[in-house]
Amino acid sequence: MEAYEKIMAAVEFIRSRSPLAPRVGVVLGSGLGEFAGRVEDAVAIPYGEIPHFKKVSIAGHAGRLVLGSINGVPAAVLQGRYHFYEGHDILDVVFPVRVLGKLGIRSLLLTNAAGGIGGELRPGDLMIIRDHINLMGLNPLRGANDERLGPRFPDMSAVYDPEFQDVIAAAAAGIGLAPRRGVYLALSGPSYETPAEIRMLAALGADAVGMSTVPEAVCARHMGLRVAGISCVTNLAAGISQAPLSHREVTETADRVKNDFIKLLEIVIPKLGK
Ligand code: HPA
Repeated sequence: MEAYEKIMAAVEFIRSRSPLAPRVGVVLGSGLGEFAGRVEDAVAIPYGEIPHFKKVSIAGHAGRLVLGSINGVPAAVLQGRYHFYEGHDILDVVFPVRVLGKLGIRSLLLTNAAGGIGGELRPGDLMIIRDHINLMGLNPLRGANDERLGPRFPDMSAVYDPEFQDVIAAAAAGIGLAPRRGVYLALSGPSYETPAEIRMLAALGADAVGMSTVPEAVCARHMGLRVAGISCVTNLAAGISQAPLSHREVTETADRVKNDFIKLLEIVIPKLGK
């Protein structure tokens, strides 16, 4: 079966479970799963039930599509994502976002946990993604292009919608947060970086480093969706602090920040869906 037919089979299945026409899509990163509980009139569908969705492996990523509304705006929330480092094919990583695109969302908010490289970023800070650098080693659009999804050579000169960046900044200021804007750089992982690699990434212009988001953003733009991204800086990148990195530090920081992050999402998502 072609990718497009798989996407449409998933869309049809989802429509059979809920008549909701979501305007905005959200991908919840590490530690944000709880946000799905804020969706009103929610219909939750485990990924395992949706045709052609892969099973989710990593702890802390629940793996459900939650359809409902946030402050009255119909939304589709992906509670858990597929990571390339888990061994998934890149087409499986981006599949849920493409399904949401065909389900009719007009905009997509991507969230993640990241290591802070830029001098001023501290663990616990949020960063509005201004742009990205794809160093994952592959592009999700490689291969035959399907014009029903988007053009062969999509423009990437403004992946993260400038107006959405301002919307997030204003919403954050309203709850006493002052997130910086920065460049997110994606590597394939799963090992964290070496200090020498982080010095290289800093020289390349990265402010934060992580292992997700970029393939989803590329595919969303390919489909013509408006994209926004927010990183939770969970740790200083390797060599910036002398301490070794641990997944535990990442999840602990994400947990500490999650109340602010969730509050921000509740304000931002309805605005992105307008
Ligand atoms: N590097 C890569 N990915 C990450 C990090 C990091 O330091 N922190 C959270 N995700």
